[in-house]
Amino acid sequence: MRLELLSVRRRFDTAGRHCRDVSRKPAAGTPVTAGFRIAALGILAAIALAHGSAAGASDAVAAGRIKADQVCANCHGLDGLSGSGGNSALSPILTAQSRDYLVTRLKAYRSGSLEHAQMTLVARMISEQDIENVSAWYSGLEIELSGNATLAEDQLEPGAASGKAKAEQLCGHCHGVDGRSVPDASAATVPYLSGQPGEYLIDRMLAYRSGRIDHPQMTPIAKSLSEQEIANVAEWYSGIRIDVLGFD
Ligand code: HEC
Ligand code: HEC
Repeated sequence: MRLELLSVRRRFDTAGRHCRDVSRKPAAGTPVTAGFRIAALGILAAIALAHGSAAGASDAVAAGRIKADQVCANCHGLDGLSGSGGNSALSPILTAQSRDYLVTRLKAYRSGSLEHAQMTLVARMISEQDIENVSAWYSGLEIELSGNATLAEDQLEPGAASGKAKAEQLCGHCHGVDGRSVPDASAATVPYLSGQPGEYLIDRMLAYRSGRIDHPQMTPIAKSLSEQEIANVAEWYSGIRIDVLGFD
């Protein structure tokens, strides 16, 4: 395992050389030490070559794509859609999520404030710079919504129609009725819900409801819903289809 982690980091040393932010230190207690320093030296060398900020941003996307392909694609897909239409598994969709949200989540898994058997391991296996890069990759994908989002009210399945009504009443002002979050809600902390696997949404809501995940906003909201209402909002949001534009 140790060896495997080192080799992943070495690949990053090459792939991430042109990225700009060298100010961040790895979080205490994480296994990144020598690899990070070597990477930082590489980055300093790249800065000495005077990259413009636009080039830096596209380098982050390019490095993020490589890392996503190596580490994340098996579960989330390189396009972030988590497999067939995004509705088949428990890995959430990452496509076009806000960059701040992805960074915040990955750092939470890394620090241990959010624990998950697979994601904690993944977030500790990659560097802080990789976190910035993969977030740049997934957040930068352009998308189009269809499915439930473009169906008329009377074309929706009954469950989805009830779910939409509930979303308008209770979820829309933070997550957006279409699940893409409202612009003035903090993009750093409110996740996108559209197109997420139905099972994943239900699992999350039940976790807030039972207290397995405690969150000042979501726990009371989840507790106010019946299991049927949770299933309905999950049917509404998961039935919004996401297509990625200009990427195959
Ligand atoms: C082995 C499968 C697997 C791999 C590999 C993996 N993930 Fe995950 N990821 C998951 C699962 C499952 C969840 C849901 C975790 C939970 O319920 O807390 C998740 C959750 C996440 C979340 C939180 C999303 C949200 O809306 O809360 C982010 C962000 C994320 N992954 C990013 C990544 C990135 C970036 C990579 C690659 C560096 C990656 N994951 C690699 C399976 C994986
Ligand atoms: C006051 C704002 C607010 C409202 C209203 C709200 N949410 Fe949330 N929701 C949040 C925030 C903030 C998070 C991130 C919580 C965390 O970090 O665990 C979240 C997380 C979630 C998640 C977990 C997603 C993930 O990928 O981890 C689901 C599912 C969810 N909300 C569903 C709903 C539904 C369904 C409703 C309406 C019934 C709703 N929320 C209403 C703010 C809100």
